[in-house]
Amino acid sequence: MNKLLTTVFALAVACVTLSAQAQKVTGSVENGGKKVAMCVGCHGIVGYQASFPEIHKVPKIAGQSATYIASALNAYKAGDRKHPTMRAIADSLTEQDIADLGAYYGQLGLQEGDAPPATLAKQPGDKVQALISRDKDNNCTKCHGANFNTPNDGTVPKLAGQHADYLYVALKSYKVENHGQLGRANAVMAGQAKKFSNAELKDLASYIGSLPGELKTVPESRIHRSH
Ligand code: HEC
Ligand code: HEC
Repeated sequence: MNKLLTTVFALAVACVTLSAQAQKVTGSVENGGKKVAMCVGCHGIVGYQASFPEIHKVPKIAGQSATYIASALNAYKAGDRKHPTMRAIADSLTEQDIADLGAYYGQLGLQEGDAPPATLAKQPGDKVQALISRDKDNNCTKCHGANFNTPNDGTVPKLAGQHADYLYVALKSYKVENHGQLGRANAVMAGQAKKFSNAELKDLASYIGSLPGELKTVPESRIHRSH
């Protein structure tokens, strides 16, 4: 190889390496769509019930933000979230897979004009209102949004319209410590959940689950996959 060719070749290799690195942090909706085969058996069946380690509906993830989806998957991967099946699944995903799946599910099912009202569509009763604002400085809506659908940060989930039985199991899990198959290690939500009895968490979950929001389960048959 002459010198010029060698230089051109080296530059081309550098470009490919650079773009591969850039892709590492950028999710691709298209590539994510090719990776959902492993997810749709649970997240692509409306009302699908999980039975282990607890019985509840599988969470709606279409319409959750890409950042939150990645943050949740990384929490399972790191063992901060203990759910056994999701840990095994997240473990098998690369950083790029996680970014692609986040990008894909983040846009799935979202349409213009889809967004719920910015303020509460349905006022809670006095009892639930008192639970929501029990922590005066840090009430639930401060982070999850006035309508529970507009989180103040990418790592905070949308909650409005999520399955109530899942919200309840998720809330309880923040109180669990030192258990092999149950629990979530997030310190912010542990501080919140521990202020409530399980009966109170259930009331919060059923109210929040009844609100209109952007979260959906998009059935597999409606997922357009480009091959
Ligand atoms: C065997 C059924 C099953 C499969 C397959 C599955 N999931 Fe899950 N997923 C669940 C269950 C159940 C939960 C709730 C776990 C918990 O309680 O923390 C969950 C939770 C999640 C969450 C967190 C949701 C939230 O609101 O915090 C994300 C994100 C997620 N799954 C993404 C995926 C992706 C992406 C795939 C495919 C690569 C996948 N899941 C495959 C059952 C499944
Ligand atoms: C200071 C910010 C903050 C406040 C206040 C807060 N949350 Fe959260 N919430 C978060 C974050 C961050 C997460 C994600 C934690 C994780 O990754 O496990 C979360 C997760 C959750 C989840 C799990 C949802 C899912 O999809 O798995 C539920 C349910 C929830 N919060 C309900 C509440 C309720 C009810 C209140 C009020 C009692 C509340 N939160 C107050 C920040 C907050």
